[in-house]
Amino acid sequence: MIKLDLTGLNNFVAESEIEAAIAAAQSARARVLELPMHGWVSLPSDITAADIAKLNAAGARIAEQSDALVVLGAGGSSLGARALLDALPGRGDVKEVFYAGDNLSGVHMARLSNALQSREFSVVVTSKSGTTTEPAAALRVMLKLLRARYGEALKEHLFVVAGEHKSALRDYAENLGCELFGIPEEVGGRYSVFTASGLLPAAARGLDIAALLRGASAEAGDGLEAAVAYAAARQKLNAGGFTTEILASFEPDARNLGEWWKQLFGESEGKQQRGIFPATVSFSGDLHSMGQYIQDGRRNLFETIVSFTGLPTDVEIPPNREFDDGFAFLGGWWLNDVNDVARQSVRAAHIDGGVPVAEIIAPGLNEASLGALLYFFEYACAVSACIDGVNPFDQPGVEAYKTIMRAKLK
Ligand code: PA5
Repeated sequence: MIKLDLTGLNNFVAESEIEAAIAAAQSARARVLELPMHGWVSLPSDITAADIAKLNAAGARIAEQSDALVVLGAGGSSLGARALLDALPGRGDVKEVFYAGDNLSGVHMARLSNALQSREFSVVVTSKSGTTTEPAAALRVMLKLLRARYGEALKEHLFVVAGEHKSALRDYAENLGCELFGIPEEVGGRYSVFTASGLLPAAARGLDIAALLRGASAEAGDGLEAAVAYAAARQKLNAGGFTTEILASFEPDARNLGEWWKQLFGESEGKQQRGIFPATVSFSGDLHSMGQYIQDGRRNLFETIVSFTGLPTDVEIPPNREFDDGFAFLGGWWLNDVNDVARQSVRAAHIDGGVPVAEIIAPGLNEASLGALLYFFEYACAVSACIDGVNPFDQPGVEAYKTIMRAKLK
């Protein structure tokens, strides 16, 4: 289960005020379930053993026939997969994973097309609406490559994840006879990591998706109080002028977990001129860039550190007998322990510098703990937006540029 440590807020907000905010958050919690599009709440336990078997079979087929998997999708339709695949090694069933359909760069696409020339590949495209420009453009390029390479067997190499309503993408997949997975109508893109959008690429990579879902279900059962407390605490800080939240991790492979988190919170909360601005850093690397600002810049920041206990691997730093650079004391330390000392030091320094620090602790860096963590954040995000009085499940603001761009392209 995910643990939450709010003691790093004590210098900034009285504990009793946080407790009052948590008590008041219960009505926001009820509000989440009154809103349309809350289908993700029960998703981890709604997925049946037959669904998991179908996903694993498709994943195994992708792995068997491909050196590389191309994941196409924008925003919430690819960031969940990316967070999982980067954070967890899997069994490496598919050796390489490329991402597209989240940008319109010809440079990026040319590089990807070149890389695919020498590889057997499969494509998973996710678009719930079927009307997003980026994956639509990328899919056209991929279909041309697939057709040239595999001819009629193209349908064996294309895997479509689409909304359950009628769309041109869904119709195409049905007519072609390729593998097709659905995203329930009541689940929005950024809450879709526990649909085939996240699970199919994870299965192709050899991740244990049943364990991932078990972790999420357990969190949904017993972990919601911590998620509500996190939501209430961040909104209490927001009300006190701490309007930017920085999610910090000391695991570089969790960088895309941060990207997923940023999109989840940014698109759910940033509306009606409201919302906490979500930013991410990867430590200790970013201590050499953003560290200065966090320690010493404008004081409207609070920081949420995500850490993982019981890490699966470690490396001992050997003594260096070649030269004396003043770091002899490092010899014999294990890197994860040094990293943890860095975490404790950063926490102390940032609190001292005027930055409230919350900590979220996941039990391990594996499928079950990631499932729990992703669900924790989804739930916290929905409750937090409701505390702030906005709808977490719509995104009216993203239409503005699309309307202008479509008119120009047409
Ligand atoms: O969270 C969201 O709703 C968005 O980020 C969508 O996932 C993104 O715009 C892609 O949408 P679609 O899957 O319809 O192509």
